Amino acid sequence: MDDLKAKYLGQIAEAADEAAIEAIRVAAVGKKGEIALMMRELGKMTPEERQTAGPALNALKDEINSALAAKKAALADAALDERLRSEWLDVTLPTRPRRQGTLHPISQASEELTAIFAEMGFAVAEGPRIETDWYNFDALNIPGHHPARAEMDTFYMARAEGDNRPPHVLRTHTSPVQIRSMELQGAPIRVICPGGVYRADYDQTHTPMFHQVEGLAIDKGISMANLKWTLEEFVKAFFEVDDVELRFRASHFPFTEPSAEVDIRCSWEGGQLKIGEGDDWLEILGSGMVHPKVIAAGGIDPDVYQGFAFGIGIDRLAMLKYGIPDLRAFFDSDLRWLRHYGFAALDMPNLHGGLSR
Ligand code: PHE
Repeated sequence: MDDLKAKYLGQIAEAADEAAIEAIRVAAVGKKGEIALMMRELGKMTPEERQTAGPALNALKDEINSALAAKKAALADAALDERLRSEWLDVTLPTRPRRQGTLHPISQASEELTAIFAEMGFAVAEGPRIETDWYNFDALNIPGHHPARAEMDTFYMARAEGDNRPPHVLRTHTSPVQIRSMELQGAPIRVICPGGVYRADYDQTHTPMFHQVEGLAIDKGISMANLKWTLEEFVKAFFEVDDVELRFRASHFPFTEPSAEVDIRCSWEGGQLKIGEGDDWLEILGSGMVHPKVIAAGGIDPDVYQGFAFGIGIDRLAMLKYGIPDLRAFFDSDLRWLRHYGFAALDMPNLHGGLSR
C-alpha cells in the first residue's frame, strides 16, 4: 500500500494538465482501478486481516482523491493566472495621444447646452427629422395658406402619384417636438429638444441643414419673466461670462404670443467673429409665450396651463463661442478644420469642471 501511495501521489505531483489528472484518477480510484481491484481481494481475507486492510484501503482512496482535487484546483488557478498575465488591458490608460478623432463643435455645443439646461431641470426630448406637415405647421398654428410656410423654404418629400397620405416635410424647425412632448407627457413639462432642421437657404450664416435646440416649459403661472430669466442664465452659462449683451426684440411667430427674438452683440472685424464687442448683432433665437391654440393642439387645457418656448440656433452659438466666421465650414468635413476646431472626445462638458476647458 505504501508503494501504491508513493506511486500515485508522485504521478499526481507530476501531472501537467487536466487530462493527465483524469487518467490517474481512472487508473487509481476508478471503478476498475487498482484500488478497486484490491478492495475485491478483501473477501478472500480472514476477518482479522480485513479489519486492518479495509480501513487502510479506504484511507488510501480518500488520500488519492483529495490529492487529485487539490492538483486540479492548482492547475485551474495556474491557467487563470496565465490568462490574466497574457490578456491584461489597462483601462485607465488614455486613448491615443495624437488626437485622431475630435468632437465636432456642434456636438460640443450640444453637449454643453444640454448640461446647462439639465441643471435648470430640463430633460431632453426628441422627434423625427421627417415630419408630417401637421406637426411641423398646422399644430403650431400655421395653417395651409399661411405665408410662414413659404418663408421657411420648406423641403417637401416627393410623393408617388395617387399617394393621398398627408405630405411629409424635412422639419423646418424643432418646434414640432413641442407638440410631440405635450402629447407624450401632458403637463407640467420642461424639455429641450436639440436636433437637425432643414431649409433651402445658403450663405455665410445659413446652410440647408442646421441645428436648433427647442425649449418648452409648460406649467401653471409661467410668465414672460421666467422666459427672459431662463434665456439670460443660459447665455451667461454657455458663453462663460457674467454679462453678455442681449437684445430682446418684439417679433412674431404664429405659435407664440407675445414673441421675442434675441440678438447678441458681436463684431465681424478682420474676418473674425467676436462676441460681446462691436456694433453688430447676431440673431440667435426666437421665443415667446406658447399660443393657446398650440397648447390645445398638444392635448393640454390652455385655460389651466401656460408656458414659454424658444428655439436657439446651435450652429450660431458655436460660431460665436469658438470664433468661427463661416457656417458653411461646419459641413465641409475638412480634416484640417476638424482638427483645429474639434474637441477632445473624452472631455464631457459639465458645469462643475467648466464647460470647455
Ligand atoms: N421655430 C422658430 C424658428 O425656427 C423659433 C421659435 C421656437 C420661436 C419657439 C418661438 C418659440 O424660427
